[in-house]
Amino acid sequence: MKLIEAKDYEEMSAKAAEYLANKIHTSKKITLGLATGGTPEGTYRNLIEDYMQNDTSYRHVTTFNLDEYVGLAGDHPNSYRYFMNKKLFDHIDIQKSNTYVPRGNARDIKQECLDYEKLLEDKSGIDLQLLGIGSNGHIGFNEPGTPFDSKTHVVELTPSTREANARYFSSLEQVPTKAISMGIATIMKAREILLLVSGEKKSEALAQLLEGDITEKNPVSVLKKHLNVTIIADHAALAAKK
Ligand code: F6R
Repeated sequence: MKLIEAKDYEEMSAKAAEYLANKIHTSKKITLGLATGGTPEGTYRNLIEDYMQNDTSYRHVTTFNLDEYVGLAGDHPNSYRYFMNKKLFDHIDIQKSNTYVPRGNARDIKQECLDYEKLLEDKSGIDLQLLGIGSNGHIGFNEPGTPFDSKTHVVELTPSTREANARYFSSLEQVPTKAISMGIATIMKAREILLLVSGEKKSEALAQLLEGDITEKNPVSVLKKHLNVTIIADHAALAAKK
């Protein structure tokens, strides 16, 4: 794993956007795996700026998001589809039909998981997967204890994850209890992974990744088995590293 240090959240976001924009510029066709949440927001802001300033085109880009809340339609302001539209897709020239997010309001959620996994395979997989981590080490919504061989599946969100995400909802009760998430095996199939980590709250999880064992108790630790991982972490996130 390659570690790139950044001063703070802004610098991490700028470096991540530069990394992604460079891949987008130099590829004829590329499939990106994308994440939501606070971590990549600054990166997306920088990508929009780059799009406006440098005419970076996204006509050749396909995207697959990691996860979506069960029960929320794509036009729900708290859905991850809505987040992606508002924070990135609406501002660049990507074809919306090339952007995929699991459908949280699908009638048959289990079938939706199977279909999503199949679609990913049919589209030849992910070239570059962008990841954040939860303070408990989750990636996507794969909470501690998720088998490393898991594919896209329905997840029961832990109380700590629901609490962490309650900041986007009007109350904790409004936070869905389930989500659809790419599995750990799905994520590991990406040909390259870019992990972003910012803030003190993530420092234990990052130290565990850098210094701890590979264990299903700490989902992010699986990245040690991947041959092409770059981590961009800010100083606060690196504080617990020995
Ligand atoms: C979101 C996702 C999650 C987040 C993680 C960190 O698509 O996959 O694993 O990356 O929960 O969230 P933030 O960035 O809000 O701290």
